[in-house]
Amino acid sequence: MAAEQSAEQFRGQARLPGFAAPRRYDLRLAPDLAACAFAGSVAVDLHVAAPTRFLVLNAAELDVAPGGVGFAPAGSGQVLQPVEVTNVPEDEILIICFNEVLPLGEGTLTIEFQGTLNDKMHGFYRSVYELNGEKKNMAVTQFEPADARRCFPCWDEPAFKAVFKITLEVPSETVALSNMPVTEEKVNGPTKTVYFQESPIMSTYLVAVIVGIFDYVEDFTTDGTRVRVYTQVGKSAQGKFALEVALKTLVLFKEYFAVPYPLPKMDMIAIPDFASGAMENYGLVTYRETALLFDEKHSAAANKQRVAVVVAHELAHQWFGNLVTMEWWTHLWLNEGFATWVSYLAADQFFPEWNVWTQFLEESTTGFKLDALAGSHPIEVDINHVDEIDEIFDAISYRKGASVIRMLQSYLGAEVFQKSLAAYIKRFAYSNAKTEDLWAALEEGSGEPVRTLMHSWTKQQGYPVVSVKLKDGKLQLEQTQFLSSGSTGVGQWVVPITLCCCSYSHQEKFLFHGKQEDFDLSGLMECQNKENFWIKLNVNQTSFYRVSYDEELASRLRYAIETNKLSAADRYGTLPISSLKCFGLYPLQLLLHCYCLTGVLDDTYALCMAGKQKLVSLLHLIAAYKDETEYTVLAQVITISLNIAEMMAVAAPEELGNLKKFLIDFLEPFAQKLGWDAKSGEGHLNALLRGTLLTALAELGHEATINEAVRRFNVFLEDRETPLLPPDVRKAAYVALMQTVNKSNKTGYESLLKIYRETDLSQEKVRVLGSLASCPDPVVVREALDFILSPEVRNQDAIFLLRGVCSGAHEVAWQWLKENWDYILGAYSGTLLTYFVNITVSPLATDEKGDEAEEFFKSRTKASIARTVKQSIERVRINAQWVKSIKAEADLGNVIRAHAHKQ
Ligand code: BES
Ligand code: ZN
Repeated sequence: MAAEQSAEQFRGQARLPGFAAPRRYDLRLAPDLAACAFAGSVAVDLHVAAPTRFLVLNAAELDVAPGGVGFAPAGSGQVLQPVEVTNVPEDEILIICFNEVLPLGEGTLTIEFQGTLNDKMHGFYRSVYELNGEKKNMAVTQFEPADARRCFPCWDEPAFKAVFKITLEVPSETVALSNMPVTEEKVNGPTKTVYFQESPIMSTYLVAVIVGIFDYVEDFTTDGTRVRVYTQVGKSAQGKFALEVALKTLVLFKEYFAVPYPLPKMDMIAIPDFASGAMENYGLVTYRETALLFDEKHSAAANKQRVAVVVAHELAHQWFGNLVTMEWWTHLWLNEGFATWVSYLAADQFFPEWNVWTQFLEESTTGFKLDALAGSHPIEVDINHVDEIDEIFDAISYRKGASVIRMLQSYLGAEVFQKSLAAYIKRFAYSNAKTEDLWAALEEGSGEPVRTLMHSWTKQQGYPVVSVKLKDGKLQLEQTQFLSSGSTGVGQWVVPITLCCCSYSHQEKFLFHGKQEDFDLSGLMECQNKENFWIKLNVNQTSFYRVSYDEELASRLRYAIETNKLSAADRYGTLPISSLKCFGLYPLQLLLHCYCLTGVLDDTYALCMAGKQKLVSLLHLIAAYKDETEYTVLAQVITISLNIAEMMAVAAPEELGNLKKFLIDFLEPFAQKLGWDAKSGEGHLNALLRGTLLTALAELGHEATINEAVRRFNVFLEDRETPLLPPDVRKAAYVALMQTVNKSNKTGYESLLKIYRETDLSQEKVRVLGSLASCPDPVVVREALDFILSPEVRNQDAIFLLRGVCSGAHEVAWQWLKENWDYILGAYSGTLLTYFVNITVSPLATDEKGDEAEEFFKSRTKASIARTVKQSIERVRINAQWVKSIKAEADLGNVIRAHAHKQ
């Protein structure tokens, strides 16, 4: 076999060959922070399992001198020199060829190499910070999904787990961190050598190294694990909140997974330049500053929640991901979907008043949105090239993933679910697992057909709408795949139906396999002849499907809501039905269009976009929320309202003024009730709502909001500590201010830049960036977009400005993207690059723009953005179709005017 080998056979492969596998890495790195370079050496203990003349491993952007490579078979006392070392950049591999077949068994491969500390926020990179007014470089690693190979040659796939012994040579005055605790430091004049304890067996993507000057806060969990939060010098107090959350979370997860935290310490650190939100490196979790730091005076409630959720998410990975690791990236969702779900579990324990499970519905809604595209993908997705991995860190892996886990948990029951999970973690600890393995553990633990059930959700894309009818005491169910384009897909699912009948104590669950099935529920529905009979499917909205009731059932559900029989989550799904009775206009139409769905608001919106329902009915529905009190529900109403305004600007600009007036009239009473200032002792959700509401009113151009904002802002500009502009309403005030800016009067814009430049709090910078492009004047938007490319904006933050582009300026942003594409392509990669495409292209709403985008990307396509380009263009087509159907709605103008001018 070895005789037939040739270097050619290793090219163009999705995975590394399996004839040799690493057991232990002895890795030494010596970063030169000033020169942005590093030198390193690695000695990898290998096991050679099959005869081979070649060793093939990953390496990218590294200089490997062939003379620095050798292989020492264990016990042989000799070192074999390779005859050839070939670097294949397109496959990111190193092919090391020997002129004899390597002996089977153990051996040590040594490689010396050199590299650059890049500024791309992946691999081994530099981040810039300020110390005593001076700019300094720190060295940081970000290896997930496949960039460890940019730091040292390695078997860079999650299933090649090994032990790591790391040694760093760094400037004496710096702090050097890695996954494990330091065992020894030897100072040698200006440099020191730092030795770290050997790690347990782990995947390469979780290895981490950081070198810089930091402060920290520290505490210990109740069972003695040392936890630190590292920050820039002078900012350690901002790490206290995350530290508290981490202490509690580590204890909670130890209980939940029934396995202790596997490492001797946990360090968490804020990195000023960071591509994603946070990264779960084993024992050394890295974060964006905004996701870790909390400033008592200047951070908002939303920032606090973000910190808590991100910390819980990353710590969940220490078990789910790090201790038990996905076998291949096809199973990425196991990591991300699970960590997302369990982070809510933790947040709900620690902050019950945040109602995070209601907020979770926003995760499902975002999952629904992506999964209703033809260009979506199954949760378990084939990965054939390393460039395809970044794009699947998306709403399918995270949000649909978390939603189907929640669905399964609520179907199996919390206790069975937790016990089976603990068994799974125990069985696969220090090893790798596939989606199948999790199902097997849950099937064993529950006795339910988990595999069959879940395959339909993870191996096929999309989701169903379940239509429900009651006939002759039987429940008739039918499922059809939902697609945003309005066409019907062919998907079919095993749907775990949960339902309750007349009260939450009468619950039933069963699996719905067929396309159409009748269920005899006469036992359960003994109350069915009662006058106040009602039935609610998808109890507490825990499942990932939409439900459509027939008119009879819908009106009975309305009765249940009116008499206050439903839980908050179920009201989220059905609330508008209850409010419709207060609404006088078009009752017949309402009956026909609105009563038949639950998850009503989002479903109606989705159906509207799919051309299956009129915009008019969606507007009626919005009006019906006038007494809503729940933050999550109102936030959703606001998002939808602003989306409608965006579409109307294209479809019927002449009606935009009236539409805005209607939306302002609808939102204003809520804002008046809340005011600009926090009431003493008021809750977290009010603080969130205040910011969301005032920002929306500002975006809609509400004069009173804008005037009040400007008044408060002017005081704030003079005194950043003024109580007049608390952090929760700052973004709203900035957006409001930008509504007063135009090309001949840019004072407001300049003032915001001043705030941006003077603050050292990332969350404040992000608030400013998010508002700069909300200006109605396209000339100013263009200037704001160019600001992204200036050295004043860190590459990690560009997307915040881009996301803030106002509805009138999407075409300006698209034009700008095309003009600057080459630069952007050079400066950004990974998920950040895909955001540029998604944020800029998706909101376009004409076929002409869709054609333009197709044409533009035709010659610029590459594996790392292909999926995003396809999905974004599909969205443009769907928007364009919606615009056309809005234009065709004859009575729309009248309805909008009626709404806008009713008293
Ligand atoms: N493992 C990811 C980080 C990551 C994302 C690495 C994309 C490579 C590519 C991490 O656990 C994560 O999911 N971070 C989230 C935050 C989380 C709270 C949803 C993020 O970065 O947004
Ligand atoms: Zn994650």
